[in-house]
Amino acid sequence: MARANLRVLISAEKIAERVRELGSQIDADYPDGPIVLIGILKGAIMFHADLARAITRPMRLDFIGISSYGKGKTTSGEVRLTRDLDASIEGMDVLIVEDIIDSGVTLSYLTQVLQQRKPKSVRTVTLLDKPDRRMRTVDVKYVGFRIPDEFVVGYGLDFAEEYRNLPDVCVLEE
Ligand code: IMP
Ligand code: MG
Repeated sequence: MARANLRVLISAEKIAERVRELGSQIDADYPDGPIVLIGILKGAIMFHADLARAITRPMRLDFIGISSYGKGKTTSGEVRLTRDLDASIEGMDVLIVEDIIDSGVTLSYLTQVLQQRKPKSVRTVTLLDKPDRRMRTVDVKYVGFRIPDEFVVGYGLDFAEEYRNLPDVCVLEE
């Protein structure tokens, strides 16, 4: 497959360092008791796996599938649940783990869906935040890096399902 130009925006080392910091902060913030770390497929898988190991308190891991982008670089505005959680979250402290927040459409939809299931709390952690194109107000408790409005790939993030395995977060240049 033809390779586009990739420019490293956040190196694997910087990501690892920030993930450790987020893990300590989450450890310190949460009250006693287990938390459920919900990864949004597929973009958040790397972050979910690394963050889980940076948090020392008891936890359950689960995943939810959401699709909104199709094959392009911008949101279609339409969100679909493609895979549901394995277990109930009623009465649980839930932490949504997202790769990147752009328009906010995905997260506002997901938060609404999860709130209906009566968890004790719902917070969100995102590796990346692209605030420039926000269409929905979202409440994000933990942010890894705030980045400019550029399309990024790597560390789980894709363009048309490619580049997820890159260890760094890179800008995909035309
Ligand atoms: P939102 O619904 O517009 O906030 O988009 C969130 C989802 O779109 C993320 O979970 C990503 O899967 C995808 N996305 C947004 N920006 C990018 C990007 O720069 N690169 C790759 N995927 C992105
Ligand atoms: Mg995603």
